[in-house]
Amino acid sequence: MDMTRPGEVLDLAISGQQTASAKLIDTDRDWSTDRAIARDAELLSAQLQAMRDRLYAPASNKMLRRFSSGEAARLIGVSDGYLRQLSIAGDGPQPETGAGGRRYYSLGDINGLRRHLAEQNPAKARTYLPRRDEAKGEHMQVIAVTNFKGGSGKTTTSAHLAQHLALAGYRVLAIDLDPQASLSALFGYQPELDLDGNDTLYAAIRYDDEGRPLSEVIRNTYFDGLDIVPGNLELQEFEHTTPQMLAARQGDDKDGPMFFARVQAALATVAERYDVVVMDCPPQLGFLTLSALCAATSVLVTIHPQMLDVASMSQFLFMTADLLSVVRSAGGELSFDFMRYLVTRYEPNDGPQTQIVGFLRSLFGERVLTAPLVKSTAFSDAGLTKQTLYEVSRESFSRATYDRAMESLTAVNGEIESLLMKAWNRPA
Ligand SMILES: Nc1ncnc2c1ncn2[C@@H]1O[C@H](COP(=O)(O)OP(=O)(O)O)[C@@H](O)[C@H]1O
Ligand SMILES: [Mg+2]
Repeated sequence: MDMTRPGEVLDLAISGQQTASAKLIDTDRDWSTDRAIARDAELLSAQLQAMRDRLYAPASNKMLRRFSSGEAARLIGVSDGYLRQLSIAGDGPQPETGAGGRRYYSLGDINGLRRHLAEQNPAKARTYLPRRDEAKGEHMQVIAVTNFKGGSGKTTTSAHLAQHLALAGYRVLAIDLDPQASLSALFGYQPELDLDGNDTLYAAIRYDDEGRPLSEVIRNTYFDGLDIVPGNLELQEFEHTTPQMLAARQGDDKDGPMFFARVQAALATVAERYDVVVMDCPPQLGFLTLSALCAATSVLVTIHPQMLDVASMSQFLFMTADLLSVVRSAGGELSFDFMRYLVTRYEPNDGPQTQIVGFLRSLFGERVLTAPLVKSTAFSDAGLTKQTLYEVSRESFSRATYDRAMESLTAVNGEIESLLMKAWNRPA
Protein backbone atom coordinates (compact mmCIF):
# COMPACT_ATOMS: atom_id res chain seq x y z
CA MET A 1 0.00 0.00 0.00
CA ASP A 2 1.85 3.07 -1.18
CA MET A 3 -1.10 5.33 -1.97
CA THR A 4 -2.54 7.59 0.66
CA ARG A 5 -6.22 8.26 0.35
CA PRO A 6 -7.77 11.66 1.03
CA GLY A 7 -9.65 10.30 4.04
CA GLU A 8 -6.41 9.07 5.49
CA VAL A 9 -4.68 12.39 4.90
CA LEU A 10 -7.48 14.12 6.76
CA ASP A 11 -7.26 11.58 9.53
CA LEU A 12 -3.54 12.20 9.92
CA ALA A 13 -3.95 15.94 9.73
CA ILE A 14 -6.49 15.83 12.53
CA SER A 15 -4.65 13.49 14.84
CA GLY A 16 -1.23 14.90 13.95
CA GLN A 17 0.32 11.47 14.13
CA GLN A 18 -0.25 8.04 12.77
CA THR A 19 -1.43 5.77 15.53
CA ALA A 20 -1.21 2.02 15.45
CA SER A 21 -4.98 1.70 15.22
CA ALA A 22 -5.15 4.14 12.32
CA LYS A 23 -2.91 1.82 10.35
CA LEU A 24 -5.25 -1.06 10.93
CA ILE A 25 -8.27 0.68 9.47
CA ASP A 26 -9.45 -0.83 6.23
CA THR A 27 -9.01 2.25 4.08
CA ASP A 28 -11.41 1.09 1.36
CA ARG A 29 -14.21 0.62 3.80
CA ASP A 30 -13.30 3.83 5.56
CA TRP A 31 -13.44 5.83 2.35
CA SER A 32 -16.84 4.45 1.41
CA THR A 33 -18.13 5.21 4.89
CA ASP A 34 -17.18 8.85 4.36
CA ARG A 35 -19.13 8.89 1.15
CA ALA A 36 -22.09 7.16 2.73
CA ILE A 37 -22.19 9.75 5.51
CA ALA A 38 -22.00 12.59 3.01
CA ARG A 39 -24.77 11.01 0.94
CA ASP A 40 -26.92 10.43 4.01
CA ALA A 41 -26.47 14.09 4.94
CA GLU A 42 -27.67 15.15 1.50
CA LEU A 43 -30.62 12.76 1.53
CA LEU A 44 -31.68 13.92 4.96
CA SER A 45 -31.32 17.58 4.12
CA ALA A 46 -33.37 17.20 0.92
CA GLN A 47 -36.09 15.27 2.77
CA LEU A 48 -36.23 17.91 5.50
CA GLN A 49 -36.63 20.57 2.86
CA ALA A 50 -39.40 18.59 1.16
CA MET A 51 -41.15 18.17 4.52
CA ARG A 52 -40.89 21.87 5.11
CA ASP A 53 -42.34 22.62 1.68
CA ARG A 54 -45.30 20.40 2.45
CA LEU A 55 -45.81 21.67 5.98
CA TYR A 56 -45.57 25.35 5.25
CA ALA A 57 -47.11 25.46 1.78
CA PRO A 58 -47.52 27.65 -0.17
CA ALA A 59 -44.68 29.93 0.91
CA SER A 60 -42.43 27.21 2.35
CA ASN A 61 -42.12 29.56 5.25
CA LYS A 62 -43.61 29.35 8.67
CA MET A 63 -46.44 31.69 9.43
CA LEU A 64 -48.18 32.40 12.68
CA ARG A 65 -51.91 31.68 12.79
CA ARG A 66 -54.39 34.49 13.32
CA PHE A 67 -56.10 34.93 16.63
CA SER A 68 -59.83 34.99 17.33
CA SER A 69 -61.22 38.23 18.71
CA GLY A 70 -61.52 36.59 22.14
CA GLU A 71 -57.85 35.60 22.10
CA ALA A 72 -56.81 39.03 20.83
CA ALA A 73 -58.81 40.77 23.55
CA ARG A 74 -57.17 38.61 26.23
CA LEU A 75 -53.70 39.31 24.86
CA ILE A 76 -54.28 43.06 24.76
CA GLY A 77 -56.02 43.08 28.12
CA VAL A 78 -59.36 44.55 27.03
CA SER A 79 -62.83 43.05 26.71
CA ASP A 80 -64.00 41.37 23.55
CA GLY A 81 -66.85 43.90 23.43
CA TYR A 82 -64.43 46.82 23.44
CA LEU A 83 -62.44 45.27 20.62
CA ARG A 84 -65.67 44.86 18.64
CA GLN A 85 -66.56 48.52 19.25
CA LEU A 86 -63.17 49.61 17.95
CA SER A 87 -63.68 47.47 14.88
CA ILE A 88 -67.21 48.79 14.19
CA ALA A 89 -66.06 52.37 14.67
CA GLY A 90 -63.12 51.78 12.33
CA ASP A 91 -60.87 52.96 15.15
CA GLY A 92 -57.25 51.78 14.89
CA PRO A 93 -55.85 48.86 12.88
CA GLN A 94 -58.58 46.68 11.41
CA PRO A 95 -58.68 42.89 11.56
CA GLU A 96 -59.53 40.51 8.77
CA THR A 97 -63.15 39.40 8.77
CA GLY A 98 -64.03 35.83 7.88
CA ALA A 99 -67.18 33.79 7.51
CA GLY A 100 -70.09 35.07 9.58
CA GLY A 101 -68.33 38.36 10.28
CA ARG A 102 -65.81 36.67 12.57
CA ARG A 103 -62.81 38.89 13.20
CA TYR A 104 -59.28 37.49 13.04
CA TYR A 105 -56.22 39.32 14.26
CA SER A 106 -52.62 38.75 13.33
CA LEU A 107 -50.01 39.41 16.01
CA GLY A 108 -49.08 42.47 13.91
CA ASP A 109 -52.71 43.70 14.19
CA ILE A 110 -52.64 43.07 17.93
CA ASN A 111 -49.39 45.00 18.36
CA GLY A 112 -50.81 47.77 16.17
CA LEU A 113 -53.84 47.97 18.45
CA ARG A 114 -51.58 48.04 21.50
CA ARG A 115 -49.70 51.04 20.11
CA HIS A 116 -52.96 52.71 19.08
CA LEU A 117 -54.56 52.26 22.51
CA ALA A 118 -51.39 53.42 24.25
CA GLU A 119 -51.41 56.60 22.18
CA GLN A 120 -55.09 57.23 22.89
CA ASN A 121 -54.72 56.69 26.63
CA PRO A 122 -51.28 57.97 27.63
CA ALA A 123 -52.09 57.54 31.32
CA LYS A 124 -52.63 53.82 30.80
CA ALA A 125 -50.05 53.39 28.03
CA ARG A 126 -48.01 50.90 30.03
CA THR A 127 -50.93 48.51 30.48
CA TYR A 128 -51.32 48.22 26.69
CA LEU A 129 -47.68 48.45 25.74
CA PRO A 130 -45.42 46.82 28.34
CA ARG A 131 -42.11 47.81 26.73
CA ARG A 132 -39.25 48.89 28.90
CA ASP A 133 -38.57 52.53 29.61
CA GLU A 134 -34.86 53.31 29.48
CA ALA A 135 -35.48 56.67 31.15
CA LYS A 136 -36.85 54.82 34.18
CA GLY A 137 -33.70 52.73 34.35
CA GLU A 138 -35.36 49.64 32.90
CA HIS A 139 -32.38 47.83 31.38
CA MET A 140 -32.57 45.32 28.55
CA GLN A 141 -32.92 41.94 30.20
CA VAL A 142 -30.79 39.10 28.94
CA ILE A 143 -31.88 35.63 30.00
CA ALA A 144 -29.48 32.70 29.58
CA VAL A 145 -31.21 29.31 29.49
CA THR A 146 -28.55 26.83 30.36
CA ASN A 147 -27.45 23.43 31.70
CA PHE A 148 -24.91 21.19 30.08
CA LYS A 149 -27.27 18.26 30.06
CA GLY A 150 -28.79 17.75 26.61
CA GLY A 151 -32.52 17.10 26.65
CA SER A 152 -33.12 19.09 29.83
CA GLY A 153 -35.59 21.31 27.98
CA LYS A 154 -33.42 24.35 27.25
CA THR A 155 -34.65 24.83 23.70
CA THR A 156 -38.30 24.13 24.52
CA THR A 157 -38.12 26.60 27.40
CA SER A 158 -36.29 29.26 25.35
CA ALA A 159 -38.70 29.08 22.41
CA HIS A 160 -41.85 29.19 24.52
CA LEU A 161 -40.51 31.96 26.73
CA ALA A 162 -39.48 34.12 23.77
CA GLN A 163 -42.86 33.59 22.12
CA HIS A 164 -44.78 34.23 25.32
CA LEU A 165 -42.99 37.55 25.77
CA ALA A 166 -43.57 38.52 22.13
CA LEU A 167 -47.27 37.68 22.43
CA ALA A 168 -47.38 39.86 25.55
CA GLY A 169 -46.08 42.80 23.51
CA TYR A 170 -42.39 42.91 24.43
CA ARG A 171 -39.69 43.35 21.82
CA VAL A 172 -37.75 40.12 21.97
CA LEU A 173 -34.50 38.81 20.51
CA ALA A 174 -33.93 35.05 20.64
CA ILE A 175 -30.36 33.86 20.12
CA ASP A 176 -29.45 30.32 19.18
CA LEU A 177 -26.07 29.62 20.76
CA ASP A 178 -26.23 25.89 20.19
CA PRO A 179 -24.30 24.63 17.14
CA GLN A 180 -27.05 21.99 16.87
CA ALA A 181 -29.41 24.85 16.03
CA SER A 182 -32.62 23.33 17.40
CA LEU A 183 -34.04 26.73 18.27
CA SER A 184 -33.40 27.91 14.72
CA ALA A 185 -35.14 24.78 13.43
CA LEU A 186 -38.18 25.51 15.60
CA PHE A 187 -38.34 28.92 13.98
CA GLY A 188 -38.26 27.32 10.55
CA TYR A 189 -34.58 27.67 9.69
CA GLN A 190 -32.69 24.76 8.24
CA PRO A 191 -29.07 25.79 8.81
CA GLU A 192 -27.51 24.17 5.75
CA LEU A 193 -30.16 25.69 3.45
CA ASP A 194 -30.96 29.03 4.94
CA LEU A 195 -27.64 30.16 6.33
CA ASP A 196 -24.48 31.10 4.54
CA GLY A 197 -21.19 31.39 6.35
CA ASN A 198 -20.93 34.12 8.96
CA ASP A 199 -24.68 34.26 9.65
CA THR A 200 -24.70 33.39 13.35
CA LEU A 201 -23.75 35.15 16.55
CA TYR A 202 -20.20 34.01 15.85
CA ALA A 203 -20.01 36.69 13.14
CA ALA A 204 -20.53 39.36 15.81
CA ILE A 205 -18.04 37.99 18.34
CA ARG A 206 -15.21 36.61 16.18
CA TYR A 207 -11.68 37.93 16.60
CA ASP A 208 -10.54 38.32 13.01
CA ASP A 209 -11.55 41.01 10.54
CA GLU A 210 -14.38 38.96 9.01
CA GLY A 211 -16.71 40.14 11.77
CA ARG A 212 -20.15 41.61 11.10
CA PRO A 213 -22.28 43.86 13.28
CA LEU A 214 -24.91 41.91 15.22
CA SER A 215 -27.67 43.90 13.51
CA GLU A 216 -26.68 42.24 10.22
CA VAL A 217 -27.25 38.69 11.45
CA ILE A 218 -30.56 39.39 13.18
CA ARG A 219 -33.56 38.05 11.26
CA ASN A 220 -37.24 38.73 11.62
CA THR A 221 -39.48 35.82 12.48
CA TYR A 222 -43.13 35.20 11.66
CA PHE A 223 -43.88 36.47 15.19
CA ASP A 224 -44.29 40.24 15.07
CA GLY A 225 -41.85 41.71 17.60
CA LEU A 226 -39.70 38.58 17.85
CA ASP A 227 -36.35 38.45 16.07
CA ILE A 228 -33.81 35.66 16.00
CA VAL A 229 -30.10 35.17 15.54
CA PRO A 230 -29.92 31.66 14.12
CA GLY A 231 -27.17 29.21 14.90
CA ASN A 232 -25.17 26.56 13.10
CA LEU A 233 -21.94 24.62 13.49
CA GLU A 234 -19.89 27.75 12.92
CA LEU A 235 -20.56 28.76 16.54
CA GLN A 236 -18.15 26.01 17.50
CA GLU A 237 -15.30 28.10 16.02
CA PHE A 238 -15.37 30.31 19.07
CA GLU A 239 -14.18 27.35 21.15
CA HIS A 240 -11.13 26.97 18.87
CA THR A 241 -10.17 30.57 18.24
CA THR A 242 -10.52 31.75 21.84
CA PRO A 243 -7.64 29.63 23.26
CA GLN A 244 -5.43 30.83 20.38
CA MET A 245 -6.27 34.44 21.16
CA LEU A 246 -5.67 33.91 24.87
CA ALA A 247 -2.25 32.41 24.13
CA ALA A 248 -1.26 35.18 21.72
CA ARG A 249 -2.66 38.05 23.73
CA GLN A 250 -0.22 40.83 24.56
CA GLY A 251 -2.35 42.48 27.18
CA ASP A 252 -3.35 45.37 24.96
CA ASP A 253 -6.80 46.14 23.63
CA LYS A 254 -6.17 45.97 19.91
CA ASP A 255 -7.98 42.61 19.71
CA GLY A 256 -11.16 44.01 21.19
CA PRO A 257 -12.92 42.72 24.28
CA MET A 258 -11.78 39.56 26.08
CA PHE A 259 -13.81 36.46 25.22
CA PHE A 260 -16.09 36.81 28.21
CA ALA A 261 -17.12 40.33 27.26
CA ARG A 262 -17.78 39.72 23.58
CA VAL A 263 -21.42 38.62 23.65
CA GLN A 264 -22.21 41.52 25.95
CA ALA A 265 -20.44 43.98 23.64
CA ALA A 266 -22.40 42.63 20.65
CA LEU A 267 -25.73 42.89 22.48
CA ALA A 268 -25.01 46.44 23.56
CA THR A 269 -25.07 47.48 19.90
CA VAL A 270 -28.76 46.53 19.51
CA ALA A 271 -30.02 47.18 23.03
CA GLU A 272 -32.29 50.07 22.13
CA ARG A 273 -34.33 47.77 19.88
CA TYR A 274 -35.23 45.15 22.49
CA ASP A 275 -36.77 44.64 25.91
CA VAL A 276 -35.68 41.06 26.48
CA VAL A 277 -33.05 38.75 24.96
CA VAL A 278 -33.44 34.98 25.38
CA MET A 279 -30.29 32.92 24.80
CA ASP A 280 -30.58 29.18 24.22
CA CYS A 281 -27.18 27.92 25.39
CA PRO A 282 -25.33 24.87 24.05
CA PRO A 283 -25.14 21.73 26.22
CA GLN A 284 -21.54 22.38 27.19
CA LEU A 285 -19.64 24.79 29.35
CA GLY A 286 -17.32 26.30 26.78
CA PHE A 287 -16.16 29.82 26.05
CA LEU A 288 -19.41 30.61 24.26
CA THR A 289 -21.56 29.67 27.24
CA LEU A 290 -19.26 31.61 29.55
CA SER A 291 -19.45 34.67 27.35
CA ALA A 292 -23.25 34.31 27.28
CA LEU A 293 -23.38 34.02 31.06
CA CYS A 294 -21.34 37.20 31.37
CA ALA A 295 -23.79 38.98 29.09
CA ALA A 296 -26.77 37.63 31.02
CA THR A 297 -28.75 39.64 33.53
CA SER A 298 -30.49 36.46 34.65
CA VAL A 299 -30.03 32.72 34.41
CA LEU A 300 -32.50 29.87 34.08
CA VAL A 301 -31.10 26.40 34.72
CA THR A 302 -33.45 23.78 33.30
CA ILE A 303 -33.52 20.50 35.15
CA HIS A 304 -35.29 17.26 34.38
CA PRO A 305 -35.93 15.66 37.78
CA GLN A 306 -34.11 12.38 37.41
CA MET A 307 -31.25 11.27 39.61
CA LEU A 308 -28.67 11.09 36.80
CA ASP A 309 -29.60 14.56 35.61
CA VAL A 310 -29.43 15.97 39.11
CA ALA A 311 -26.05 14.36 39.65
CA SER A 312 -24.69 15.84 36.45
CA MET A 313 -26.16 19.21 37.41
CA SER A 314 -24.00 19.31 40.51
CA GLN A 315 -20.97 18.93 38.23
CA PHE A 316 -22.34 21.70 36.06
CA LEU A 317 -22.76 24.02 39.06
CA PHE A 318 -19.28 23.34 40.39
CA MET A 319 -17.70 23.97 37.03
CA THR A 320 -19.77 27.07 36.39
CA ALA A 321 -18.88 28.53 39.76
CA ASP A 322 -15.17 27.82 39.16
CA LEU A 323 -15.13 29.26 35.68
CA LEU A 324 -17.13 32.31 36.64
CA SER A 325 -14.73 33.08 39.45
CA VAL A 326 -11.84 32.87 36.98
CA VAL A 327 -13.68 35.24 34.68
CA ARG A 328 -14.40 37.58 37.55
CA SER A 329 -10.77 37.72 38.60
CA ALA A 330 -9.84 38.49 34.98
CA GLY A 331 -12.04 41.56 35.15
CA GLY A 332 -15.35 40.14 33.92
CA GLU A 333 -18.42 41.61 35.52
CA LEU A 334 -21.15 39.32 36.69
CA SER A 335 -24.32 40.52 38.23
CA PHE A 336 -27.59 38.71 37.90
CA ASP A 337 -31.04 40.04 38.71
CA PHE A 338 -32.10 36.46 39.32
CA MET A 339 -31.01 32.88 38.93
CA ARG A 340 -33.66 30.16 38.97
CA TYR A 341 -34.00 26.42 38.48
CA LEU A 342 -36.85 25.34 36.27
CA VAL A 343 -38.13 21.78 36.60
CA THR A 344 -38.87 20.47 33.12
CA ARG A 345 -40.65 17.47 31.57
CA TYR A 346 -42.14 16.87 34.98
CA GLU A 347 -44.49 13.93 35.57
CA PRO A 348 -46.43 14.67 38.76
CA ASN A 349 -47.59 11.04 39.07
CA ASP A 350 -44.05 9.70 39.04
CA GLY A 351 -43.02 9.07 42.65
CA PRO A 352 -39.23 9.30 42.21
CA GLN A 353 -39.56 12.53 40.20
CA THR A 354 -41.73 14.09 42.86
CA GLN A 355 -39.17 13.11 45.49
CA ILE A 356 -36.36 14.68 43.51
CA VAL A 357 -38.32 17.89 43.06
CA GLY A 358 -38.94 17.95 46.82
CA PHE A 359 -35.23 17.39 47.37
CA LEU A 360 -34.33 20.28 45.03
CA ARG A 361 -36.83 22.58 46.74
CA SER A 362 -35.47 21.72 50.17
CA LEU A 363 -31.92 22.50 48.97
CA PHE A 364 -32.50 25.57 46.86
CA GLY A 365 -35.71 27.00 48.30
CA GLU A 366 -37.23 29.82 46.27
CA ARG A 367 -34.55 29.50 43.61
CA VAL A 368 -36.62 26.61 42.21
CA LEU A 369 -39.52 28.12 40.27
CA THR A 370 -42.85 27.18 41.83
CA ALA A 371 -44.33 26.09 38.52
CA PRO A 372 -42.76 23.15 36.71
CA LEU A 373 -43.07 22.57 32.98
CA VAL A 374 -45.00 19.31 32.82
CA LYS A 375 -44.21 16.53 30.42
CA SER A 376 -46.89 16.45 27.76
CA THR A 377 -47.34 14.96 24.35
CA ALA A 378 -48.63 18.40 23.38
CA PHE A 379 -45.03 19.69 23.52
CA SER A 380 -43.42 16.73 21.80
CA ASP A 381 -46.17 16.36 19.15
CA ALA A 382 -46.05 20.05 18.33
CA GLY A 383 -42.29 19.64 18.11
CA LEU A 384 -42.72 17.01 15.38
CA THR A 385 -43.96 19.72 13.03
CA LYS A 386 -41.44 22.16 14.48
CA GLN A 387 -44.08 24.09 16.33
CA THR A 388 -44.60 25.33 19.83
CA LEU A 389 -47.75 25.15 21.91
CA TYR A 390 -48.44 28.77 21.00
CA GLU A 391 -48.52 27.88 17.32
CA VAL A 392 -50.66 24.75 17.27
CA SER A 393 -54.39 25.11 17.68
CA ARG A 394 -56.26 23.65 20.59
CA GLU A 395 -58.14 21.31 18.23
CA SER A 396 -54.93 19.42 17.45
CA PHE A 397 -55.10 17.66 20.81
CA SER A 398 -57.62 16.35 23.26
CA ARG A 399 -58.79 19.33 25.27
CA ALA A 400 -57.50 17.92 28.53
CA THR A 401 -54.02 17.37 27.06
CA TYR A 402 -53.79 20.82 25.55
CA ASP A 403 -55.23 22.62 28.55
CA ARG A 404 -53.00 20.87 31.05
CA ALA A 405 -49.87 21.67 29.02
CA MET A 406 -50.96 25.27 28.41
CA GLU A 407 -51.78 25.78 32.07
CA SER A 408 -48.31 24.64 33.08
CA LEU A 409 -46.68 26.77 30.39
CA THR A 410 -48.65 29.86 31.36
CA ALA A 411 -47.68 29.42 35.00
CA VAL A 412 -43.97 29.00 34.17
CA ASN A 413 -43.80 31.94 31.80
CA GLY A 414 -45.93 34.08 34.12
CA GLU A 415 -43.51 33.43 36.95
CA ILE A 416 -40.51 34.35 34.81
CA GLU A 417 -42.28 37.46 33.54
CA SER A 418 -42.94 38.57 37.10
CA LEU A 419 -39.22 38.19 37.88
CA LEU A 420 -38.50 40.44 34.91
CA MET A 421 -40.99 42.99 36.27
CA LYS A 422 -39.28 42.86 39.64
CA ALA A 423 -35.92 43.50 38.01
CA TRP A 424 -37.49 46.59 36.40
CA ASN A 425 -38.90 47.64 39.76
CA ARG A 426 -42.42 47.43 38.44
CA PRO A 427 -45.23 46.49 40.80
CA ALA A 428 -46.12 42.81 40.61
N1 LIG B 1 -42.43 19.45 28.66
C1 LIG B 1 -42.16 18.56 27.71
N2 LIG B 1 -43.02 17.53 27.44
C2 LIG B 1 -42.73 16.62 26.47
N3 LIG B 1 -41.62 16.64 25.74
C3 LIG B 1 -40.73 17.63 25.95
C4 LIG B 1 -40.95 18.63 26.95
N4 LIG B 1 -39.88 19.47 26.93
C5 LIG B 1 -39.06 19.02 25.99
N5 LIG B 1 -39.55 17.92 25.40
C6 LIG B 1 -38.93 17.14 24.32
O1 LIG B 1 -37.69 16.66 24.80
C7 LIG B 1 -36.66 16.80 23.82
C8 LIG B 1 -35.51 17.63 24.37
O2 LIG B 1 -35.97 18.93 24.70
P1 LIG B 1 -35.10 20.22 24.36
O3 LIG B 1 -35.91 21.39 24.75
O4 LIG B 1 -34.66 20.16 22.93
O5 LIG B 1 -33.86 20.02 25.33
P2 LIG B 1 -32.39 20.67 25.26
O6 LIG B 1 -32.47 21.94 24.46
O7 LIG B 1 -32.01 20.92 26.69
O8 LIG B 1 -31.50 19.65 24.62
C9 LIG B 1 -37.35 17.43 22.61
O9 LIG B 1 -37.64 16.41 21.71
C10 LIG B 1 -38.62 18.04 23.15
O10 LIG B 1 -39.67 18.02 22.20
MG1 LIG C 1 -31.33 22.51 22.81
